[in-house]
Amino acid sequence: MSATSGLVIPCKAAIAWEAGKPLVIEQVEVAPPQTMEVRIKIKYTSLCHTDLYFWEAKGQTPLFPRIFGHEAAGVVESVGEGVSDLQVGDHVLPVFTGECGDCRHCKSEESNMCDLLRINTDRGVMLNDGKSRFSINGTPINHFLGTSTFSEYTVVHSGCLTKISPLAPLDKVCILSCGISTGLGATLNVAKPKKGSTVAVFGLGAVGLAAAEGARIAGASRIIGIDLSPKRYEEAKKFGVTEFVNPKDHDRPVQEVIAEMTNGGVDRSIECTGNINCMISAFECVHDGWGVAVLVGVPNKDAVFMTKPINVLNERTLKGTFFGNYKPRTDLPSVVDMYMNKKLEVEKFITHRVPFSDINKAFEYMLKGEGLRCIISMEE
Ligand SMILES: NC(=O)c1ccc[n+]([C@@H]2O[C@H](COP(=O)([O-])OP(=O)(O)OC[C@H]3O[C@@H](n4cnc5c(N)ncnc54)[C@H](O)[C@@H]3O)[C@@H](O)[C@H]2O)c1
Ligand SMILES: [Zn+2]
Ligand SMILES: [Zn+2]
Repeated sequence: MSATSGLVIPCKAAIAWEAGKPLVIEQVEVAPPQTMEVRIKIKYTSLCHTDLYFWEAKGQTPLFPRIFGHEAAGVVESVGEGVSDLQVGDHVLPVFTGECGDCRHCKSEESNMCDLLRINTDRGVMLNDGKSRFSINGTPINHFLGTSTFSEYTVVHSGCLTKISPLAPLDKVCILSCGISTGLGATLNVAKPKKGSTVAVFGLGAVGLAAAEGARIAGASRIIGIDLSPKRYEEAKKFGVTEFVNPKDHDRPVQEVIAEMTNGGVDRSIECTGNINCMISAFECVHDGWGVAVLVGVPNKDAVFMTKPINVLNERTLKGTFFGNYKPRTDLPSVVDMYMNKKLEVEKFITHRVPFSDINKAFEYMLKGEGLRCIISMEE
């Protein structure tokens, strides 16, 4: 038992009071974990574009005040009633989508969409009692994705925590808890390119470049990267991207450009921007007969996907995925092992580091499209 077990912990958290306004570091009170919950001390966290979308709240439901953050690594401080598989001191990765282990999805080999703990972007409270574990002078602060990692301490459902080897460096593997695993899994588990195939990746941020890394590991012969920012191109070469297309350089739909480059279309495409037109292009650029397109980017909540049905009839497949179809508790340790066994390079995704007090800089970098992942260190 830790000295703070069962007590409210006062600590620092970065509060989003309003949409699009800089976060403010405030003293919050973090209540003890309840049944099946775990309180963890966050060591490192990073910013994923999904945090940014919900903070901007332009195409998403606004819910404020809120503590964002879902890509992180930490250590168990205390466990609530009924938690038997995690102990004080365990190293863990919190994941935005969980695994209860009992539902039909958790029992299915094909799904990671747990009935109980699947991603819910609009919920700001814990499942157990419909209340928040965070407060400031009695005012509750909303959770985000059940993780809220922009806080020195947070409370997470035990089904959303992956226990990892204590040897794994937390300042690196923290980015495996969302973006990198998502992109990698989208390719390896969902698109499943064959050796020698041609793969298009839309959006060359961390998620897209992890998808490209997956294509390289699968033995793709051509990896075509599509991004509006030419800044991305140099970086993308390190991830095996062999060719680039900037939609701005063409006066016709990018799917036509790609079809021409590839004699009718790519074998697989993975969309990692969240832009609806990119999603349509990603689908329409796959080859008829066998092409598979995978949607990963989080769209505006009102976006509608439109394509001519004949594009589907012509034997193309459209799929989508959260977290690269990995089951967080069952499968994520194997991704950590890929890093530990040097099959997956994580360092090249880390382009910036800031102390927690400078968390707003991580938002600025992402807004400017500068770098890939910015690690935020909770211990300054
Ligand atoms: N499905 C999931 O489980 C899951 C998990 C994590 C992130 N995401 C989503 O994946 C997407 C990528 O996340 P990220 O952290 O890598 O973001 P990022 O901001 O680091 O990268 C996005 C890239 O897309 C490019 N881009 C944006 N609009 C474009 C357009 N219209 N055409 C071409 N390129 C365009 C940007 O220039 C940038 O390089 C986001 O939508 C995020 O919400 C989904
Ligand atoms: Zn994410
Ligand atoms: Zn389940």
